[in-house]
Amino acid sequence: MVQTRRRDEGGTGAILVILVVLLLVAQLPRVLGQPGYLGCYEDSKDDRALGGPSWKDVIEQSWEWCIHSCVSYQYMGLEFGNECFCGRNVDYGRHGSRSGCTMACEGNSSETCGGRNRIEVYRGET
Ligand SMILES: *[C@@H]1O[C@H](CO)[C@@H](O)[C@H](O)[C@H]1NC(C)=O
Repeated sequence: MVQTRRRDEGGTGAILVILVVLLLVAQLPRVLGQPGYLGCYEDSKDDRALGGPSWKDVIEQSWEWCIHSCVSYQYMGLEFGNECFCGRNVDYGRHGSRSGCTMACEGNSSETCGGRNRIEVYRGET
């Protein structure tokens, strides 16, 4: 009797663990930022991580706005809360991977938009 009950509790526990793991895996894209998130990198005014056109917008800046602005570019990046950079160069991480992408996007405070000399790079819609 006691052993059977223990086994049942173990089974329920295992199912719960599996459910929790599945839930965590499903949350991963959100935790990493968005699908296509590549990371937080050092950027430099004199040698931009992403070499294409750039936009600055204190009203609209968000992940959605930047990816829309960089349509047909392989990569896009958010920096300093209100800057959006586009690029096709695969060496966007050449200044090094960094922490510090903690500034809120000025167009959507629930997203982060890089930081001072920190760019958050995403795979774009090509
Ligand atoms: C703001 O960002 C969140 C998180 O990425 C997103 O779910 C939401 O749709 C965004 N809101 C707008 C207005 O873009």
